[in-house]
Amino acid sequence: MDNQCSQIMILRRKLQSKLAPMRYEHSISVSFTCMNLAMRYGYDLDRAELAGLMHDCGKRYSDEIILKKCLKHGIEVTDAEYKALPVLHAKYGAWLAEHKYGIDDAEVLSAIRCHTTGKPEMSVLDKILYIADYIEPRRYKAENLPVIRRLAYEDLDKTMYAILAGTLDYLKKKGGNIDPMTADAYEYFRKLEGEPNELKGNG
Ligand SMILES: [Fe+2]
Ligand SMILES: [Fe+2]
Repeated sequence: MDNQCSQIMILRRKLQSKLAPMRYEHSISVSFTCMNLAMRYGYDLDRAELAGLMHDCGKRYSDEIILKKCLKHGIEVTDAEYKALPVLHAKYGAWLAEHKYGIDDAEVLSAIRCHTTGKPEMSVLDKILYIADYIEPRRYKAENLPVIRRLAYEDLDKTMYAILAGTLDYLKKKGGNIDPMTADAYEYFRKLEGEPNELKGNG
């Protein structure tokens, strides 16, 4: 057994004892989906597996407790995050991964940190994790999943644009708070894809 494999097995056991069963199952599923995308795009499989496995390690508490933990550990919380608390588990998760699970790979930590909001100029691993979280095989709610799943294996940037556009559209219709980082990420990928701004003016 190589080092990566034994590290992953130790982390899996630890995570399984901390996360709710379905959250753990989702983490495993995201981990394998990250590896699939890494195979497709020539990215490092070990890092992809680690990022996928650990991405929701912060999601073991309620949003309110995660907020308290962020404040306690000096993790910056923006005004927008106060209004959209569910995104915070990403930042908190990156902190936990580094300080409690001993992960020091900056690319892996970055991918965990931005997996809820996305951001402009995402790295290949940032995109792989964001997309894997959306398309993993146990997901079933989003109507556009078959299209996004296919697109994910064709073009990462186009997939990012499609997911972000759908997410913003959904949040606007629902009247939910949009984190400015998600809006910035959308603008970045919209421009990259040369798409018109269809969401502007929708209220
Ligand atoms: Fe998450
Ligand atoms: Fe997730």
